[in-house]
Amino acid sequence: MITNRLCCLMDFLFLLPSLFLLPFSFSTLASTDELFFNCGSSIPTISIDGRKWMEDNFSFPTTTSSLSPTYADPNVPSIPYSTARVSTSPFTYSFPVSPGLKLIHLHFYPAEYSHFTAVHAVFSVTCSRHTLLKNFNASQTAEALNFYYVIQEYWINASSPVLEFTFTPSSSTSHAFINGIEIISSPDVFSGNKWLITNINKPTHYLIDPNWAIQTVYRLNVGGQFIPPAEDSGRLFRSWEDDAPYIYGAGLGVSYGADSNVSIHYPLSLPEFVAPAEVYATARSMGPNMRVNLNYNLTWILSVDSGFFYLLRFHFCEIQYPITRVNQRVFNIYIQNHTAVRGFDVIQVSGGIGVPDYKDFVVIIPKSGELDGFTDLWIALQPNKEHKPQFYDAILNGLEVFKLEAHGDTLAGQNPIITKKQIGHGEKKRPIPEPRHSKSRTQVILGVSYGVGGLAFALLLFVLFSLLTKYRTKSFPIPSPHHSAEVKQSSPLCRRFSFADLELASNGFNEAQVIGSGGFGKVYSGTIDDGKTTVAIKRGSSLHGQGIQEFHKELETLSKLRHHHLVSLIGYCHDSAEMILVYDYMSRGNLREHLSGKKKLPLPWRRRLEICIGAARGLHYLHTGVKPAVIHRDVKTSNILLDEQWVAKVADFGLCKDGPEGQGLSHVSSAVRGTEGYMDPEYMRLMQLTEKSDVYAFGVVLLEVVSGRPAIDRANTEEENLVEWVRLRRREGMMELVLDPYLRGEVAGRCFEKFVALAEACVAKTRVERPAIGNVLRELELAFSLQLQEHAELEDDNVHADPRP
Ligand SMILES: *[C@@H]1O[C@H](CO)[C@@H](O)[C@H](O)[C@H]1NC(C)=O
Ligand SMILES: *[C@@H]1O[C@H](CO)[C@@H](O)[C@H](O)[C@H]1NC(C)=O
Ligand SMILES: *[C@@H]1O[C@H](CO)[C@@H](O)[C@H](O)[C@H]1NC(C)=O
Ligand SMILES: *[C@@H]1O[C@H](CO)[C@@H](O)[C@H](O)[C@H]1NC(C)=O
Ligand SMILES: *[C@@H]1O[C@H](CO)[C@@H](O)[C@H](O)[C@H]1NC(C)=O
Ligand SMILES: *[C@@H]1O[C@H](CO)[C@@H](O)[C@H](O)[C@H]1NC(C)=O
Repeated sequence: MITNRLCCLMDFLFLLPSLFLLPFSFSTLASTDELFFNCGSSIPTISIDGRKWMEDNFSFPTTTSSLSPTYADPNVPSIPYSTARVSTSPFTYSFPVSPGLKLIHLHFYPAEYSHFTAVHAVFSVTCSRHTLLKNFNASQTAEALNFYYVIQEYWINASSPVLEFTFTPSSSTSHAFINGIEIISSPDVFSGNKWLITNINKPTHYLIDPNWAIQTVYRLNVGGQFIPPAEDSGRLFRSWEDDAPYIYGAGLGVSYGADSNVSIHYPLSLPEFVAPAEVYATARSMGPNMRVNLNYNLTWILSVDSGFFYLLRFHFCEIQYPITRVNQRVFNIYIQNHTAVRGFDVIQVSGGIGVPDYKDFVVIIPKSGELDGFTDLWIALQPNKEHKPQFYDAILNGLEVFKLEAHGDTLAGQNPIITKKQIGHGEKKRPIPEPRHSKSRTQVILGVSYGVGGLAFALLLFVLFSLLTKYRTKSFPIPSPHHSAEVKQSSPLCRRFSFADLELASNGFNEAQVIGSGGFGKVYSGTIDDGKTTVAIKRGSSLHGQGIQEFHKELETLSKLRHHHLVSLIGYCHDSAEMILVYDYMSRGNLREHLSGKKKLPLPWRRRLEICIGAARGLHYLHTGVKPAVIHRDVKTSNILLDEQWVAKVADFGLCKDGPEGQGLSHVSSAVRGTEGYMDPEYMRLMQLTEKSDVYAFGVVLLEVVSGRPAIDRANTEEENLVEWVRLRRREGMMELVLDPYLRGEVAGRCFEKFVALAEACVAKTRVERPAIGNVLRELELAFSLQLQEHAELEDDNVHADPRP
């Protein structure tokens, strides 16, 4: 009997396409507010995707401040996150707007702003009569989501000529902050038919009140990749996330793109602003094996706040041959284990291959008894057997989940819970989703728990966006190669060698194989694993006291760390009196050798920049990627090694110290150690070590790189110390003399200025004046892009100036 009823329902649903023809008209686009507002910024700015952000020229009581984060992670884009409006008392922004539906993005980067610490940012946000957030703990939300920052998205129908956003701290000890506000006029994306899924498996018609506020909770490009705001359709600046982290179990199905001869054709009934073509041009289906397909459900699990109504929008489009006709692929859609549609056929609904369509359903998520106030929303697709389609399979191209303000004027829910998994893990935020198809079951569960925060529709992790805009190709996201390696944490796979092994490896510590030497002894090249792997073997001869301690420190530190820009330790030998460490062989030696021009040809500028960026990444990892932070204490050009591909690797951890946790204020006291010319004067004076001492030494490295001169130049009669020598040039206004003569004509002007200014900031006399290594890294990348940019302009000019072919 139930089946009967469902079949009727199914027939009824098949009538829907004609109803879907009605809703859209572009007349709603008449009002065109497009406001990007950079809170706390005194100047207008342009973000990396080309959007113009207005300055914060509102006048506020003096109790609110415009502040910048004390430490800004380099993975966080500077606009709008490098400034914020912060206050311990309520404050309100009033924006004049035209009437109609507005899409709102609120940007929050939970960081320390002057004396306002991130953990005390707990506040409410209202927009006119709507409560958007209540007791919102920005750092908890970002942490639970494992995002650097949080973007909350809302849709509000502006009925009065001003939209007022009020930020109210939750208690006398907390403060409120906001980094950016976007207000974009939106066409009417929520009209059209909605079907309420009830627990009797009988969807009924459902109306959305135009005066409700709506919050976007998830927006997934199913089977596709992250789509950044600038590539959204309809100039709505939405982000679309990869769906893979939300798939249940190992049943990932297959994700695929449109056949090359299929293009997306929007029917009249479906304007392009509903979703960009890129969403429809990728999909996930169950897979080629029909027997397998019949035995599982393609399932997504999305964690949502309980006690709300949710609108689920499914986007469909058939994009591959041979599916062009009705009854080739027919499937059932379940929401919360209730039947939403039985016998859904995309071609029948859309009208053909390459033609998109979408379906809306509303589901009630009752208040759960769970303590944390979250419920898993189950969405499942299952092949439909009754219709005997040609293929037992299902398909989905996109999925959006919106929270409705159906009862009362509030959308506020709980802060997502930081699961145990993430506490004290010592792991950095993972800005890049795990690689597809490699998930094990446990990782999927982890992914889902991250999803909890989807609640706070934290659109995406930012790196991703900045990386994608930088490195993105049309069809595949390419995370920066540096980046993918950044987070890799070691299993301490450190091998133990016998003395005989290493004697064999180095041909009996053959003098002809010595590649370096120092106070500790000598470094030999050698091979292990039957000649398959070339290694560097550092043999401590006649070690005592300090020397032994340094070897131990290096072994202890390096066996715990693995990073693309740190030299890797392969193993060690501790037989009898011998202390020997075995490393990856760095075939191109150290950076110093490539600057002096004595042993090797001086490096071109661009390569020098790349090496500096690599080394900065290595240091950034030491300072922020591990807990407790590691202070290297002996950063210098001869400790930056280069592999065959010129990848920079920081080496020599014999002097390193576990640093203070957190940034800036704390320090470790210890006997002053380091290398002359690189030593932080403040550290020498106060005997207090902080990460900023590494920054000082790295500044000296930068000066060596740009000038080609050594840190201490005994031959220089005027001034031995490179830092002092550069200061002299600065005072004389002769900075061009700082440039390595080998680099003349090669370095772009703006790049040179930025680079030298950065190096000078790093070697500032006091540590508070020096930037954190993350900012150094960011500035280096900026300098690099200036170089590329100016170089390209130069080439353009040449094209114009030089008419020869
Ligand atoms: C702020 O600046 C914008 C232009 O950037 C201007 O339209 C607006 O009137 C200014 N507001 C105030 C309060 O000065
Ligand atoms: C906010 O969340 C953080 C966890 O990230 C927590 O340490 C802090 O105590 C919370 N703040 C308040 C006021 O509850
Ligand atoms: C916004 O609200 C007004 C007044 O309630 C209503 O007439 C209008 O249709 C609404 N617009 C949208 C796009 O919902
Ligand atoms: C498009 O390409 C597919 C193979 O990729 C082929 O099977 C199909 O016939 C082609 N269709 C048209 C209309 O050319
Ligand atoms: C749906 O069914 C699965 C088992 O098939 C169960 O684990 C899950 O909790 C159910 N979901 C809901 C919301 O009832
Ligand atoms: C698929 O999901 C539906 C609804 O929850 C359930 O009745 C059915 O048993 C599931 N099928 C499989 C193979 O898990």
